[in-house]
Amino acid sequence: MKIGVLKEAASHERRVPIVPDSVKRLGQKKIEVVVEAGAGERALSSDADYTKEGASVVAGQPAAIAAADAVMRLRIPTLDEVATLKEGSTLFAPLLPLVNHDLVKALAAKKVTSFAVDFIPRTTVAQMMDVLSSQATAAGYYAVVLAASQLPRFFPMLITAAGTIAPATLLVLGAGVAGLSAIGAGKRLGARVEAFDVRKVVKEQVESLGAKFVEVDSDEDAQTAGGYAKEVSEEYKKKQAEAIARHVAKADVIICTALIPGKRAPVLVTEEMVKAMKPGSVVVDLAAEQGGNCEGCEAGKTVVKHGVTIVGALDLPSNLAVHASQMWSRNMEKLMFHLTKDGTLKLDMKDEITRGCLITHGGEVVQDRVREALGLAKVERPAEAKPAEAKAVAAPAGGAT
Ligand code: NAI
Repeated sequence: MKIGVLKEAASHERRVPIVPDSVKRLGQKKIEVVVEAGAGERALSSDADYTKEGASVVAGQPAAIAAADAVMRLRIPTLDEVATLKEGSTLFAPLLPLVNHDLVKALAAKKVTSFAVDFIPRTTVAQMMDVLSSQATAAGYYAVVLAASQLPRFFPMLITAAGTIAPATLLVLGAGVAGLSAIGAGKRLGARVEAFDVRKVVKEQVESLGAKFVEVDSDEDAQTAGGYAKEVSEEYKKKQAEAIARHVAKADVIICTALIPGKRAPVLVTEEMVKAMKPGSVVVDLAAEQGGNCEGCEAGKTVVKHGVTIVGALDLPSNLAVHASQMWSRNMEKLMFHLTKDGTLKLDMKDEITRGCLITHGGEVVQDRVREALGLAKVERPAEAKPAEAKAVAAPAGGAT
């Protein structure tokens, strides 16, 4: 199998999905890499670095697509980009398939075998393949770096000849992957860190990082069986708002990361709460793209409201292009090793990871939740189906359109 690594069109995207370091390990599993010239430049991986590790470098995207069986992207492809793919080829990319129906239909129509890398189940086994986790780790860290650069105060406590400086108080809302990473970064910079999450199970994780868990006086726990958060009751929301308001008023920095998958971000910091913050305080809202956890947040912009700087940060991992690419690339290596044998794609619909992230194959939409979102009939799969070659994936009833 040959995978094509393409240069992303977005000018602010600096990452690359496969770094030179992965090329040799992929090669040992009979997976060759074809790189579009310059694809790794913005992540400081030169064409020569790829060639040295055994990849072939070709000029231009059409040549890379033509030479490869599969294409790897780290941004959601546009319909125009899908049009450039070879019919029957394979794609690994974030797809946001529950929302991007036209994209899914276009991939099915092109008979592309598409894997949504944002649909890899968040299980222990799949963690090493999960780009959402690795990139959220980068985003959580960078959110703190960004906040520190905007805050007109120190983070750590300092005892100096010019007096004693009190440490900054950092409040992290949502203690998932990005939140825990932000807590770690905040602690390392010397801030006093507090964190809140609707899932009680994370209390221990927050405390193990040396931060204080903000408690809400309620027995309600919003953790689902799958480990994600679910919507909380109105009564809980009221108590939560009171608890958060008390801590927001004391915070110098707030990092917002609260998210319920597939939903608009919950508003946790209201305009009233922002008004009560100290002038010069900073809010970095990682949930900006989903509407933001902080009222007044604008996606992709930094605004000052009531004396508080609110950063609607997007694309944070791209600022850490070298390491974010290295992590993405490691995730892809593990995914490729899981999905292939002797360099050939094996599709086993009994496998949780394949079933989770394989979206289209053989002209059909095959992922259960995506089929449901598109209003397509559920696919009945035999309980004891044998692991199959790519072409033998259970054909669903009904087409993509
Ligand atoms: P995650 O699912 O691991 O964590 C989200 C956390 O929010 C969970 O622990 C959940 O329990 C918690 N939560 C849900 N509702 C809540 C509520 N009402 N109050 C308090 N906590 C609540 O998600 P992950 O990977 O950490 O991502 C977090 C956010 O960061 C997402 O919105 C994601 O899209 C965003 N993100 C942004 C990036 C950027 O560059 N701006 C890059 C990567 C992620």
